[in-house]
Amino acid sequence: MIHEEAAAKIHVDHLGKMYGDRIVFSDVSFDVKEGEIVSIVGPSGCGKTTLLRCVVGLMGPSEGSVEISGAKVDGPPDGVAMVFQNFGLFPWKSVAANVAYGLTVRGISKKDAAPRVQELIKLVGLEGFEKAYPYQLSGGMQQRAGLARALAIDPSVLVMDEPFAALDAQTRDILQLELLRIWDTRRAAMMFVTHSIDEAVLMGDRIVILRGRPSTIFDIVDVGIPRPRAHTTVDTERFRTVRDYVWRAVMQQAQAEIATAVDADAVRIDS
Ligand SMILES: Nc1ncnc2c1ncn2[C@@H]1O[C@H](COP(=O)(O)OP(=O)(O)OP(=O)(O)O)[C@@H](O)[C@H]1O
Ligand SMILES: [Mg+2]
Repeated sequence: MIHEEAAAKIHVDHLGKMYGDRIVFSDVSFDVKEGEIVSIVGPSGCGKTTLLRCVVGLMGPSEGSVEISGAKVDGPPDGVAMVFQNFGLFPWKSVAANVAYGLTVRGISKKDAAPRVQELIKLVGLEGFEKAYPYQLSGGMQQRAGLARALAIDPSVLVMDEPFAALDAQTRDILQLELLRIWDTRRAAMMFVTHSIDEAVLMGDRIVILRGRPSTIFDIVDVGIPRPRAHTTVDTERFRTVRDYVWRAVMQQAQAEIATAVDADAVRIDS
């Protein structure tokens, strides 16, 4: 049997982005293969959201390029879905209408979309809440709806920007594993931005660490933990090894910045 390397679904090539004359990141290159989840970590403000926006074609890069399925991205491509930190639901639409949005906007009638919408609502555990409005849902339920909406177009590329950051720790633990379960049925190429290093390790096949000002890739780590992952994954030796390495890589910069920003004499107690 011939084992071929999975093809690169997302190809980020020497990408750089400036706002005005300020460089946010530069020389960012990596691939996300078919069926792979790549976590992205880095300090606040290093350009993670900006990077995702460039990947999904919501903004153009200042240098370099992104290819999805071999085609250069110069606007939102088909088959690409994004899930946002603040759920990004339309407050005036019901859960069902929010989930249907990606389909109706493509000209599919509400009636034709209905079975698929119902299937997705069931998949994310929101049965019975089809007619509810976002304000009537908890944060966790809103993010389930956001997830169902992203999945409605059956994306081959899924881009997530801190999707669980606004949730309590317990809901977050549940949704991480549920997302992996759902992802496993289709295995879209996924980019997963998070501030949580544990989450980056639990979700990712690889972890891209962004660092510096302007930021660039400090390292790309192979997680090396087989799937399916479970809540017990966090108790494995490999999990701890990867987490500690990524933590040190991210914190080194944070600590260096704190050390230069804070005047240590200001807190010294002279006796
Ligand atoms: N539309 C914009 N115009 C000008 N500057 C921007 C714009 N969007 C973001 N920035 C700046 O670019 C930098 C990167 O922002 P970005 O939101 O991509 O960071 P991030 O890594 O996602 O941060 P966080 O972890 O806090 O979400 C920040 O300094 C931000 O102020
Ligand atoms: Mg961000």
